Amino acid sequence: MKFNPNVLDCAAAPIAEAWSWVKDPTSERLIDMCQAVPAHLPPQSLRDYLGDAIKAGEGATYTDIRGIPPLREALAANISQRYQGTVDEADVLITAGCNQAFCSVVDTLCQAGDELIVPLPCYFNHQMWLSTRAVTPRYLSFNPRTAMPDPEEARGLINERTRAILLVTPNNPSGAIYSPECIEQFFEVAKAHGLALIVDETYRDFIDIEQLPHRLFGRDDWRETFVHLYSFSKVFSLTGFRTGAVVASTALIEQLKKIQDCTAICAPHAGQLAALYGLQNLHDWKVEKSEELAQRAIAIRQAFSHPDLKYRLVSAGAYFAYVEHPFSASARDVVKKLIQEQEIVCLPGSYFGQDQEKFVRLAFANVHESHFEDVISRLIASQ
Ligand SMILES: Cc1ncc(COP(=O)(O)O)c(C=O)c1O
Repeated sequence: MKFNPNVLDCAAAPIAEAWSWVKDPTSERLIDMCQAVPAHLPPQSLRDYLGDAIKAGEGATYTDIRGIPPLREALAANISQRYQGTVDEADVLITAGCNQAFCSVVDTLCQAGDELIVPLPCYFNHQMWLSTRAVTPRYLSFNPRTAMPDPEEARGLINERTRAILLVTPNNPSGAIYSPECIEQFFEVAKAHGLALIVDETYRDFIDIEQLPHRLFGRDDWRETFVHLYSFSKVFSLTGFRTGAVVASTALIEQLKKIQDCTAICAPHAGQLAALYGLQNLHDWKVEKSEELAQRAIAIRQAFSHPDLKYRLVSAGAYFAYVEHPFSASARDVVKKLIQEQEIVCLPGSYFGQDQEKFVRLAFANVHESHFEDVISRLIASQ
């Protein structure tokens, strides 16, 4: 049997590789800052609702390719309200998680040999998918002072093979929240060149509720350019239910339906019910969890101000802290040592695109701030 060389060349799944370096996964001393997972289960009310629904026989069937209408309507209403814009049910396609949303959008827009503009550092699964599809990422350099990508740099990379600009905000791995102005400038660059602007907003519920993430949905012309990707995984702790969404023009959704039909047929029905319950009932719970995480981001910033610490916090927000390590060794070697000697499980920057050897990603969402002092002591011990 011969394998697709694009798949053979693709890097292995990073989380599993990092865990393979752990000597004793049962050790009580382990601090897991590896994967971006919520620290808590969905609330009891959601679990009760879903249990009853499944017992009553709901959720066992396929749904419409685009997802169940009440969920599409509820998400459209949620986005219209959150972004002070206009989104209709017809603009929404529910997917089996945000990763599938990204993969399907790339397949809808790109052929092998096409190019996507991607700021560094970038989310490893995005990079892996582009590699398996032979779509070339054209990277925007990382500015460790601001952690913001530069729209003008993107303009300079556009050629006849460019299909889209991709942003992730709040960012994985850096935690940086791109400013509305920055996102809107990327929109202008994409629009001027007839490209899509894909924005993965998996972590958008962890932006302060008082802040508008961006004003794109308020524009009459957003559908010509903008593609919003969303996940229900983090906001309602539904990672295993695999539910996300693409919000885009009906023209794009019509083409995307072909991919969705062949791959998932529809997003998991039970996940769709859970997401709908969340949108209809869990606003206060969501805000409470978001405030807890915001506190955690403040606590990690404070913890990194320790005078003896040689690791430098580059940026922090949502689930992540991106940290510059003080060694000349590769990020992979630094992380291996942190895992094996300090029992802090984290990821090397090198998983997040080129030129990231100086960095380490700490996913702090699943570690209570009471452990941060211990994390800092162990980082100091590693110096
Ligand atoms: C930026 C980003 N997009 C997508 C995902 C995956 O989301 P989902 O569970 O909805 O597929 C993650 C998960 O870590 C992520 O960090």
